[in-house]
Amino acid sequence: MPSLKRPVYLDYAAATPTDPRVITAMQQCLSIEGCFANPHAKDHVYGWEAAEAVETARSQIAELVGASPLEIIFTSGATESNNLAILGLARALRQRGDKRRRVITSKIEHKAVLEACELLEEQGYSVTYLKPREDGIITLEQLKESFSSEVFLVTLAQANSVLGSVSDVHALAAFTHQQGAYFHTDTAQSAGYVRTDFANSQISLASLTSEKVCGPKGVGALYIKRAHEVPLVGLIFGGGQEKGLRGGTVATHQVVGMGKAFEILQQEGRSDALRMLALRRQLRSGLSEIAGVQFNGSLTDHVPGILSVSFADLEGPRLITSLSDTACSTGSACSSADLKPSYVLKAIGLSDALARASLRLSLGRFTTEDEITRAVTDIQQTVARLRADKIRS
Ligand SMILES: Cc1ncc(COP(=O)(O)O)c(C=O)c1O
Repeated sequence: MPSLKRPVYLDYAAATPTDPRVITAMQQCLSIEGCFANPHAKDHVYGWEAAEAVETARSQIAELVGASPLEIIFTSGATESNNLAILGLARALRQRGDKRRRVITSKIEHKAVLEACELLEEQGYSVTYLKPREDGIITLEQLKESFSSEVFLVTLAQANSVLGSVSDVHALAAFTHQQGAYFHTDTAQSAGYVRTDFANSQISLASLTSEKVCGPKGVGALYIKRAHEVPLVGLIFGGGQEKGLRGGTVATHQVVGMGKAFEILQQEGRSDALRMLALRRQLRSGLSEIAGVQFNGSLTDHVPGILSVSFADLEGPRLITSLSDTACSTGSACSSADLKPSYVLKAIGLSDALARASLRLSLGRFTTEDEITRAVTDIQQTVARLRADKIRS
């Protein structure tokens, strides 16, 4: 059970608390009185009700991203959506006899993208990993320089999960589409807070998740643009659900939770974002009083809730474990004691030492000003203590 005073939660980019309104909606899908039935059961009212709840959720998700419900496929999260987009497209094109075998991505993508790309490399594809600008942004010029006629897919996230920097995926997608290739974007960290509006974009495929926006974990979606007639084969077989792209019973309570979370985001995303930006400013201003502090990522193009910060002259790996009143992350791929520096921070040019002495602070809907004040005090005191220890040793 939680202790009386838990540290301030600043790890919203990893997972968010579920909004109570989402919990209520989900609860109504579990019991005998609610939509508990298999949504694919065609022969009784229980199944029809569950199917209706699933379709309402699909519409809520489509609405937020400016898509048609017909363009949304449910998955278990952005990881699966990324895999389905990248591997499913490659396999479908190959089956059609398409000879193109090259993918463009970046060095700072989520592992779900990088490892899917590595699998393609093992199968004989070539993958180009663009190096981002120092602020974590991938530019149109970089994409243009690297493009060739063998490219069938460009996969670049809208917002980077460590830095929060936002690339102009609509411009990148427009160019890619003009060249006759498909553009996939991972919007796990950006949907609802940064322009998605897929109807007016040449993005062919987009991964969505629920857990970053106060919805439940274990559910996500893939947007597939109808107008692009994207060839795709599923990776999970059986049952033919989700247009044959994702076998398995759709988890009604999960997708209803995601739908509700997206509906709330549609209504409140703008005011949430403004509040989050003000809290992020408060955090940044408090931390900027610490000597040797460095903020990473774009000053102007970023999601409202993520702040990446590094401290010079510090025993890096001890930083995160020494914080007593702040729960955040290192932005590293691994959180064990022999901390590997984050590949994202290294890719934007940080030294190993600075990358190790970094924190990813991420806030969200339920963060308060008082909590930011507490976290700033904790980080200031911890950095000062670790520096004093370093001098003594
Ligand atoms: C950019 C990005 N993509 C994908 C994921 C994985 O999402 P999920 O847990 O929904 O599979 C995350 C989660 O941290 C993420 O930040």
